[in-house]
Amino acid sequence: MHRLETLARQCAAAILKENDIHVVSHIDADGLTSAAIMCTALERAGKDYTVDFVRQLDESILRQIADTNPSITVFTDLGSGMLEQINGLGLNAVVSDHHIPSGDGPYHLNPHLFNINGAYEISGSGVTFLLARAMGRNDDLADLAVVGAVGDMQHVRQGKLIGINRQIVRLGMENGAIHCQRDLTMFGKQTRPVFRMLQYSSDPYLPGLSGNEDACIGFLKDMGLRFQGENWLKWIDLEPDEKQRVISGLIQYCMSAGIAVHKIQRLVGEVYTLLREREGSETRDASEYSTLLNATARYDRAMTGLAVCRGDRNKEYENAIELLKEHRRNLVEGINLVKGQGVKTLVNLQYFDAGDKIKDTIVGIVAGMSVSVVGNRKLPIIAFADTEDGVKVSGRGNYDLVHKGLNLSAAMSSAAGSVNGMGGGHDIAAGATIPKEAKSEFIRMLDRIIGTQLRTT
Ligand code: C5P
Ligand code: C5P
Ligand code: ZN
Repeated sequence: MHRLETLARQCAAAILKENDIHVVSHIDADGLTSAAIMCTALERAGKDYTVDFVRQLDESILRQIADTNPSITVFTDLGSGMLEQINGLGLNAVVSDHHIPSGDGPYHLNPHLFNINGAYEISGSGVTFLLARAMGRNDDLADLAVVGAVGDMQHVRQGKLIGINRQIVRLGMENGAIHCQRDLTMFGKQTRPVFRMLQYSSDPYLPGLSGNEDACIGFLKDMGLRFQGENWLKWIDLEPDEKQRVISGLIQYCMSAGIAVHKIQRLVGEVYTLLREREGSETRDASEYSTLLNATARYDRAMTGLAVCRGDRNKEYENAIELLKEHRRNLVEGINLVKGQGVKTLVNLQYFDAGDKIKDTIVGIVAGMSVSVVGNRKLPIIAFADTEDGVKVSGRGNYDLVHKGLNLSAAMSSAAGSVNGMGGGHDIAAGATIPKEAKSEFIRMLDRIIGTQLRTT
């Protein structure tokens, strides 16, 4: 048994000793699926629990939790950056997380402690799935752990899930929850007519096709695609030879448009289908499912997302679908804003300041998406967005930069720390909150730190 699983058993025992359990999780797809896995495991173990979602842990939130005096708090998809404070407050806690830790504690379940990278080998929901397995028979929850990992983009590095994530996929396949296959990676295979899938493609951005309905329709007609009456089929409705024709056509199109080889390669990769979900629905494909979840929790509607994860396909599911429309609109608007205003370039990073135009909880997603549209891949992209209590910073890199030494988590944490802010995350993607007046000092410092990272490795 892996040492992470041994530790999971100890953490499980600590939880199962108690009765009144408080679960605190993160407001994104990985956080929601983590919470759903934990709540299901607790319910199956006959435990009472409450659940709450937060953007980020800070001292005041921890103090509020301590004031309610739960017999034990289970932090999922967060906590590893706040171990000192958790211990300092004397909270009886289990931390089930995959962010780069600062400090350690008694029931701290985190892959980095075992030299496993939490950015691509296992997600918060994966770690929590291991914990749930140690609490009882919960293998059937593997599909949620796959949705969490895909939501955190853990499959992007190798075009498929690897490491412990792979073992979780295998468990999901064994119990009939997951199917995986190589396919087009584009978003919307289950739910969009094929021309819309092309039209909305931002990764890769297809010059001449992305955003252009007529051009996409023309392209597909040239590929000899079939209609059903007046209607376009969805990707899942196409025959294998039709799919192959479109994929080859897209590869050729991208090559003649001069798109970089690594981007063309990303057109095809492993995709994950949730076999218990209805075909053609937003929860059938792991990537679409994770976007549906992000559309809830990142807009203060985490309980809607949690209900969906726990199986609601009625009212809360309908609510989530409504929120998804708004989320898509916001992402398009956000990317257009970045396209319009452009990015500023320093020596070792590029950045944009969205002010109050992009919500702080989605600015990281916009930053990640805008690289393929406006950015320069040789530099990490940093985004600012105003929040009520300061400025939210989101950073996104890529694995070429990580190989050259980039560690955004360390850089953010150190630059934020020196201006009285707080930050952390992963080497490839990290965030921070800083005081409003510290923006220019922060970005200069971050530029310097990243420069040092890239020079010294
Ligand atoms: O808080 P959490 O760990 O869930 O968030 C991870 C973030 O890192 C996600 O927003 C994900 O999109 C981003 N990420 C990325 N590229 C990767 C891995 C993660 O942008 N290769
Ligand atoms: O918010 P955003 O998507 O940019 O976050 C990227 C990563 O940085 C996530 O894994 C998030 O949990 C982490 N983060 C953090 N501390 C912050 C803000 C973000 O650890 N203050
Ligand atoms: Zn996560």
